[in-house]
Amino acid sequence: MKFIHLSDLHFHRKTKDNAGAVKVLKYVKETYPEHNLIVTGDIVDDGHEKQYKNAQKALKPFLGRVFISPGNHDFGALGNLYSRERAERFDEFLSAPLQQGGAFSGDGTPVVNVVKSDTDKVMLIALDTNLETSSAFDFACGAVGEEQMAALDTILRESASLGMTKILFFHHHPFVHNDPFMELQDALELMRTIYNRVDVVLFGHKHISGKLENVNGIRYVLASDNSPGKNFARELTVENGITSVDDIRII
Ligand SMILES: [Fe+2]
Ligand SMILES: [Fe+2]
Repeated sequence: MKFIHLSDLHFHRKTKDNAGAVKVLKYVKETYPEHNLIVTGDIVDDGHEKQYKNAQKALKPFLGRVFISPGNHDFGALGNLYSRERAERFDEFLSAPLQQGGAFSGDGTPVVNVVKSDTDKVMLIALDTNLETSSAFDFACGAVGEEQMAALDTILRESASLGMTKILFFHHHPFVHNDPFMELQDALELMRTIYNRVDVVLFGHKHISGKLENVNGIRYVLASDNSPGKNFARELTVENGITSVDDIRII
């Protein structure tokens, strides 16, 4: 079973501004017809309805094999002004039509999907790491939040998840500290919660690619850059419970 990690597509209103994202998704669709796609947030640039319509059109062909989490730009203008209306659009235009396992806006529980092959079961756990505050000075930071953290802990403790390969994904970078536009404020608590309990962690936000192996009891911790305009993305292969990572072309 294979997965491609993309992030930060930043769909805009005007068609000409989306050429990079559309080109990447077209290439991925045609070249990897069986791969699952995981997109770790900032799918649109400021949550405008037209942006969501453009993103939906480009992602709909992946129905049944695309899995998403929201980023700061999805939920608010400039990526740092939280808007309830824009957050709800994420669910209306993306989560629901792309048949995600639940809603993100105003919901303190992770969105869980399970993908199966003849040999493997993979649990995909998506978090909403956006802060829902009215201050323009903290929104680009993120947090898992107490309620969602507790729900994640429960999911990882339940017998249904045992024996499955687990991929946890969200938008904010968990290793940036003391940065007013980047920090995942409860990253340390998240690391304690998932220690030795998930196989892969994926995120974006910083627009810089990175790969760590065997940290915090996790096989792979992967940061995606902003995929449009880049030549490569990471491919995860899960086979007989073993996960491996390769770079593959996306253009
Ligand atoms: Fe971004
Ligand atoms: Fe972001």
